[in-house]
Parts: sequence; structure tokens; C-alpha cells
Amino acid sequence: MSVEQFYADNRANWNDRARVHARSELYRLDQYRTDPTCISPVVRFDQQQFGSFEGFSIAHLQCHIGTDTISLERLGAASVVGLDFASDAIEVAREVAETSGSKARFVEASVYDAPAAIGETVDLVYTSVGTICWLHDIVRWADAVSGLLASGGRFYIRDTHPVLFVFEEIDGEIRPHFNYSYTVDEPLSWDEDTTYTDDPDSVGIRNTRHHEWNHSIADIVNALVGAGMRIDRMDEHSGVPWQFVPSCTREGDLWYLPEPLRSQIPALFSLHATKL
Ligand SMILES: C[S@@+](CC[C@H](N)C(=O)[O-])C[C@H]1O[C@@H](n2cnc3c(N)ncnc32)[C@H](O)[C@@H]1O
Repeated sequence: MSVEQFYADNRANWNDRARVHARSELYRLDQYRTDPTCISPVVRFDQQQFGSFEGFSIAHLQCHIGTDTISLERLGAASVVGLDFASDAIEVAREVAETSGSKARFVEASVYDAPAAIGETVDLVYTSVGTICWLHDIVRWADAVSGLLASGGRFYIRDTHPVLFVFEEIDGEIRPHFNYSYTVDEPLSWDEDTTYTDDPDSVGIRNTRHHEWNHSIADIVNALVGAGMRIDRMDEHSGVPWQFVPSCTREGDLWYLPEPLRSQIPALFSLHATKL
């Protein structure tokens, strides 16, 4: 299968998911529409890691239906532009922004084309939770991040730790799956009519086929360094914002593996970098 076909499958799958997520309890879009203080749990977490977003012009890569983008604006960003390749996600994001009085701009494009599609440099490139696993070429991704920044511009990412992707649960037992390499050239392909918001009407997913790539920490760091970025800090976290396997238990907005794995396996990483 060609790379173009992988992305066509993923785009169709994300268009379906955008519609299902827009109706979901997890994304609770009505709260963003009616309560100007509503901030997404993803951005709340990232604020603790990054510090204040106040005054930053921000490009948000893989913005999905805009809840995190609008949250960044509500936390004082000078301007925000969200980018996503799923037209339905962008349509939902624009509707929520318009209804809630947000000035956020939303652009439909592939991450790889972000500098041209956004058309300006920003102070901060932000991307969080469920992002680079959808990209086959981590070097092109890092070049796009760098291309959105002038010297001194900042980058922040939080995403699934590649070590977590090696694990799966079978019959209540969580263990490494030998087909799930720590880093893969070929994607792992799935056929699922459900999504992580776990709605009864997940039947809205008609384009079920999707493909994900796992990128090692070394590949992520080296891609950013190769794109002219200095790595300032990296952290590892144990909570994931979705039920990674059935045995995960929920605490607040995050799900945790059962002990002792919870203490042994990093679930997410966050990374801060600066354009040289
Ligand atoms: C898991 S969501 C982002 C999650 C975000 N934290 C949220 O909860 O709203 C992943 C997003 O990446 C987008 N995406 C996947 N591949 C992409 C690509 N190559 N270029 C741009 N967007 C892409 C999908 O359309 C989807 O909206």
C-alpha cells in the first residue's frame, strides 16, 4: 500500500471521528460554546508543564475539533491558528470558535505543509496527545515545526511514549506484543468502527481502516536537532488521557496502568525545544 493510501485512509477515518467526537461527552463542545472559562484538560495539563501561554502567537498542529486551540486563546495567547488535515474537524472547530466568540483561525492542511499553509512564523508551535503516531516521516514533521519558527521561537509537544505502544492487553494480562516494535518503518494498521470517546453512537465510524507509526525517542530528538532546534527539557508521565487498555483505571482526566506497570512504564513524554 502506498503512503498516499495510508493518509487517505487516515483522513477518511478522522473525518468520521470528528463528527462522532463533536457529539461526545468527552469533548463536551456545548461547554466551550457557552462557558468562556472552559479549558480542555489537555491544555490544563500542558500549562503546568509549559508555564504561561500569555502573549504567545501560537500555531497548534493537529488541532482536531479546536477545543485545545480555543483553550490556548482563553489562557491569554496573543493569537492562535489551528491546523488539521481533516476537513470535518476544521469545520467543527470553526463552528465552535464562531459560536463562542473565539478569534482562532483554522487551516485545513497536512502537517508537512504547515509553514506554507499557515503563512507566517509564530512564537510557539504547540502539539499535544495523539499527534506524531499519525505521521510516517518524523524528519519532515520536525522541518515543518522549525519552518513555523524564527530564531528563539519555542516548541512544545506532549505525546504517547513510544515504549507504551509496545504493550497490549490480552485476557487481562498486559505484556509486550512482539509485532509492536518500539520503532516502525511500516505502519501498524487497524480496522475499527469505534473511537476513544467510547460513545454508543460510535457507529458513525464508517471508514474504519487507519494506520499509525511508532517513533523512538532517539528519532524524535534527532529529527528536531537536525531541523535546527535545541532540546531544552524532556519529561515522562504515567497518565494517558484515554483508556489505553481495558485494565487502566481512571483518576480525574487521566487513565493509569495497574501497578507495578504504572511505576515501571512511561506512558507519555513532554518535550520543550527552542529554534536556534
Ligand atoms: C488525536 S487528534 C489530536 C488530539 C487533540 N489533542 C484533541 O484531543 O483534540 C489527532 C488529529 O491529527 C489529525 N491528523 C492526522 N494526521 C494528520 C496529518 N498528516 N496532517 C494534519 N493533521 C493530521 C487528525 O485529523 C486529528 O484531528
